[in-house]
Amino acid sequence: MKVLVVGGGGREHALCWTIAASPLCHKLFCAPGNAGIAEEAVCVPIAADDIEGLLAFVQKEAIDYVVVGPEGPLVLGLVDRLAEIGVKSFGPSAAAAQLEGSKGFTKDLCAKYGIPTAAYARFTDVATAKAYVKAEGAPIVVKADGLAAGKGVTVAMTEAEALAAIDEALAGGAFGAAGAELVIEAFLEGEEASFFALVDGETALPLATAQDHKRVYDGDQGPNTGGMGAYSPAPVMTQTLIDDTMDRIVRPTVAAMKAEGMPFKGVLYAGLMITKDGPELIEYNVRFGDPECQVILMRLMSDLLPALIASTDGVLSSFDLRWYPEAALTVVLAAKGYPGSYEKDSVIRGLDLAPGNSDDVQVFHAGTKAGPDGEILANGGRVLNVTAMAPTIRQAQELAYTAVDRIDWPQGFCRRDIGWRAIARR
Ligand code: AMP
Ligand code: GLY
Repeated sequence: MKVLVVGGGGREHALCWTIAASPLCHKLFCAPGNAGIAEEAVCVPIAADDIEGLLAFVQKEAIDYVVVGPEGPLVLGLVDRLAEIGVKSFGPSAAAAQLEGSKGFTKDLCAKYGIPTAAYARFTDVATAKAYVKAEGAPIVVKADGLAAGKGVTVAMTEAEALAAIDEALAGGAFGAAGAELVIEAFLEGEEASFFALVDGETALPLATAQDHKRVYDGDQGPNTGGMGAYSPAPVMTQTLIDDTMDRIVRPTVAAMKAEGMPFKGVLYAGLMITKDGPELIEYNVRFGDPECQVILMRLMSDLLPALIASTDGVLSSFDLRWYPEAALTVVLAAKGYPGSYEKDSVIRGLDLAPGNSDDVQVFHAGTKAGPDGEILANGGRVLNVTAMAPTIRQAQELAYTAVDRIDWPQGFCRRDIGWRAIARR
């Protein structure tokens, strides 16, 4: 098959690395890709949300299968448009991608089908939103309805913060159209966890568990990021909790989406709060987590490509995924300043040395490009994902940081404590 992966981050590097190894794949492309992905795939300079550009390329190259990494093109309907020209792809339709594209859509679905989530209401008007906050009191959570690059959520510990968040989104237009509607919901207390399942419209197959670290600094301090590291398995997701999440949240959602005439296919990524009453849904994403994907795929023993195609074809019920029992851990190297402003184009050296003698270390590129003389340049906020697999999380952590320390990139930084929660739990 000729396969196209859409996206250009660490998640897509891990997808390309995995798919390139599949005997089913005879030619692999990635749009737009990055300097690391170029080792696995032919990179084509088409942006991930350039739907027309992608469709033209797929037709010109007679691509057989498209794997969509990020949510943007899914919400824009890339999977639907590909189906119209007879090309199969991995991911949900635009209708099903509303699970990530509209928080109000997801909350209404949960309410209608009895899926546990925080009590909420939807607003487009400042006065009614403020009256709701005053009636409910703080703490309370104010969320932009649409895609806001992870910045649309205010967990307000005081009423004043919540009122300010309403003004910013509805009156100030802080999130543009994504914030023209708000979901305001009850504050949930507990430990956060993530859960991933492969879904084919009807059947949901749990993936290996994984957990990321969202805060930028050690000890889970500082502002939120897309994720500064991740590990798998995630000890917080016990088998009981996995079963509970499947029974109370994932399977009911898959059935609800089918009943609503918009069956969900792709990766369903549930952000959960483990409350004293069990898991509650915080939000859905309709794609692999980044960097969680990197550690999940490191541990995947089965061929990924047939599993993705089974999701598209609706035949996952006859599928079984096998995993290496080892733990995987990834450390994100980011440009100094991230998640605020940062410089691009600094030179990264020592990448060839990073794995040492270990086959169990992979350096996935998240934001790099090749310079004029073939040198590797930083080209984003999150730049590298140094990923290692070992018998325990602690050993995977050691192996990953040993590799990190061989990379010569003075303009970068990383957290030194990825995996601490999992290690502390043991
Ligand atoms: P989201 O973008 O929906 O994942 O929200 C970002 C973060 O806000 C989550 O990872 C949680 O830490 C926090 N959060 C969102 N909703 C709630 C809630 N109802 N209660 C407590 N914390 C929340
Ligand atoms: N690592 C969080 C995300 O992919 O949304």
